Amino acid sequence: MKTSAILFAIACIVTGCDNSSEILKSPDGNLELSFRLTSDGQPCYSATYKGKDIILPSLMGFGLEDAPSLTRDFRQTGVERSEVSETWAPVWGENDSILNHYRQMTVNLQQKDCKMDIEFRAYNDGFGFRYIFPGQDTRTFVISDEATQFAMAGDHTAWWIPGDYDTQEYEYTTSRLSEIRSHAEDNFMENASQQRFSPTGVQTALMLRTDDSLYLNIHEAALIDFPAMHLDLNDTTMTFRSHLTPGPEGHVATIDTPFRTPWRTVTIGEKATDILASDLILNLNDPCALEDISWIHPVKYMGVWWEMITGKSSWSYTDATYFDLATFDYTKAKPHGHHGANNDNVRRYIDFAAEHGFDQLLVEGWNIGWEDWFGKEKDFVFDFITPYPDFDIAALNDYAHSKGIRLMMHHETSSAVDNYDRHMDKAYDLMNRYGYDAVKSGYVGNIIPRGEHHYSQKQIRHYLNAVKKAAGKHIMVNAHEAVRPTGLCRTYPNLVGNESAMGQEYGNMSPQHVTILPFTRLKGGPMDFTPGIFRMRITDFAPGYQGKQKRATIPNQLALYMTMYSPLQMAADLPEHYLRHMDAFQFIKDVPADWSKSIYLDAEPGEFIVAARKDKNSEAWYVGAVTDENARDYTLDYSFLPPGRKYIATIYADSADGDCFDNPEAYTITSQHVDNTSRSPLHMARGGGFAISIKPADQ
Ligand code: NOJ
Ligand code: CA
Repeated sequence: MKTSAILFAIACIVTGCDNSSEILKSPDGNLELSFRLTSDGQPCYSATYKGKDIILPSLMGFGLEDAPSLTRDFRQTGVERSEVSETWAPVWGENDSILNHYRQMTVNLQQKDCKMDIEFRAYNDGFGFRYIFPGQDTRTFVISDEATQFAMAGDHTAWWIPGDYDTQEYEYTTSRLSEIRSHAEDNFMENASQQRFSPTGVQTALMLRTDDSLYLNIHEAALIDFPAMHLDLNDTTMTFRSHLTPGPEGHVATIDTPFRTPWRTVTIGEKATDILASDLILNLNDPCALEDISWIHPVKYMGVWWEMITGKSSWSYTDATYFDLATFDYTKAKPHGHHGANNDNVRRYIDFAAEHGFDQLLVEGWNIGWEDWFGKEKDFVFDFITPYPDFDIAALNDYAHSKGIRLMMHHETSSAVDNYDRHMDKAYDLMNRYGYDAVKSGYVGNIIPRGEHHYSQKQIRHYLNAVKKAAGKHIMVNAHEAVRPTGLCRTYPNLVGNESAMGQEYGNMSPQHVTILPFTRLKGGPMDFTPGIFRMRITDFAPGYQGKQKRATIPNQLALYMTMYSPLQMAADLPEHYLRHMDAFQFIKDVPADWSKSIYLDAEPGEFIVAARKDKNSEAWYVGAVTDENARDYTLDYSFLPPGRKYIATIYADSADGDCFDNPEAYTITSQHVDNTSRSPLHMARGGGFAISIKPADQ
């Protein structure tokens, strides 16, 4: 990856210290961070923005197992300051160039013979800090808990999901901080693996709005070798405290020095769109670690998938259950007759996906073991290399390649993580042998070995190890049920997607969900949300289907390709459902998955989002808007377009009688000439939106 880096000022001043505050300001001076040691040597920071309190004095540090905690009795031995301004080019992304401009302050602390530094970075759009344990005599620390506080300056409005060691698959609740406890069960949803830890526990990225309309977002960046951080609120003092996911022995992490923790981050915006546009999390991650990135690319894909999700077919091949994979003979087993990943069906999808210009076709249920996976908590269920008898892996890959597309691999691990690690090399080698270059992996159910959690330190290591190993074999990864991302896709751009939130595969989600995810889950990296569902109502499914109820209109589903940024975009519905609306499907065929410029035009979490993006490979622009359960009228101002150029806008909009409950498949498609002085009054139905392709008129 080519980055243009101008290091324009690095000043390093090391001073002796007393207990006065160290101040760090953002480059524009609006954000001011302050650090000091309290009279008993406790590290303490606070933050203001344009003079307003953002974080009130908040303590920092760690509890240790069998050793004095790293929370007090520190003295400051030095402070180093620097400033960096550089631009870097992501391999794929919302913009082709990203400015990374910050001021940094590292305070050096010492507690008896133990050293700990805290590194702060102040940006114009927020700040981050991390703890650094330099190499020293005490080489291993067993951390029992983290004591970092985020003391809120008011009873803010929050968009939150419950703190849970195993899942993020929840709908969001909007409430005051003081109401989190009383709303703790509002959006409770059972999951194959979940463990909540507190009625006031919430997950990051946590979106907040103050009463004077500042927008804040608390998250973490560069989660490596450490458990994921949740937040637990003291709802008397309105102070969050970091809550790390524990491992089986009860403590949260074991670290060997030298060690850098992930960044704790607070993004700050005067408008909601500032939070959407912020690159703070990516900027706090290390530059690309891969030398050759020529094989990494955006992917538009379809899947032999939604038909399993909606109950038309199944992942499994036979009705047998509970057996030993090593000795079970599938060729002698009686097929139950509704296995989705069979040769004829996969060919049908290959034909459709290739005809309509997709890059790949995901096929789930291609490999043996699906009879014996769900809820069993068995270690050895999948080997990731043996196809079912009716899935001819060589012939189907050859057929796909002959049509100009690739198959996409699927590895459901059933959370038997050691088993996956044992098979990973062979599994990736099989992909190399047949020409797969992308894998969707998954971690459904409780982590085996028992006692580990989806977000505990061992798992965090596993997810990144799987991505690094895949990079060595030129494989892109899209992991479901893994930890929510923290910007690691900058360093490892073969991590092209994650689920790690409630995705479209859930039925009956509230329409507001897609107006919140970009403010929360997507801040760490792209989501495999699986947009593009056209058949919304369970009652419209053919008899025999279990179906999936959606609360969205077709224009809303089209808009998601712009409002939910991802380099990996699925057209998730069935070919036969697209055939009913080929004029609307044209938008999905046209829309790119990689952009040179993105502008969030307007947004409010839980209400609506309007995003404009420019195609990386042409002069075309695309606009998408989604709304919550309220219909709204919106006048689109095209002034984001470059001046003096004429375009043709094709507008896919909700029709006057469109509605996510009563008339979800209604839409209009109109075309008009536009330039950067144009305006279009547009109507969004309940659960609706609009999607617009804007192509130069002279092309
Ligand atoms: C859960 C994933 O999110 C889903 O997409 C997948 O089909 C199933 N697990 C089976 O692996
Ligand atoms: Ca899932």
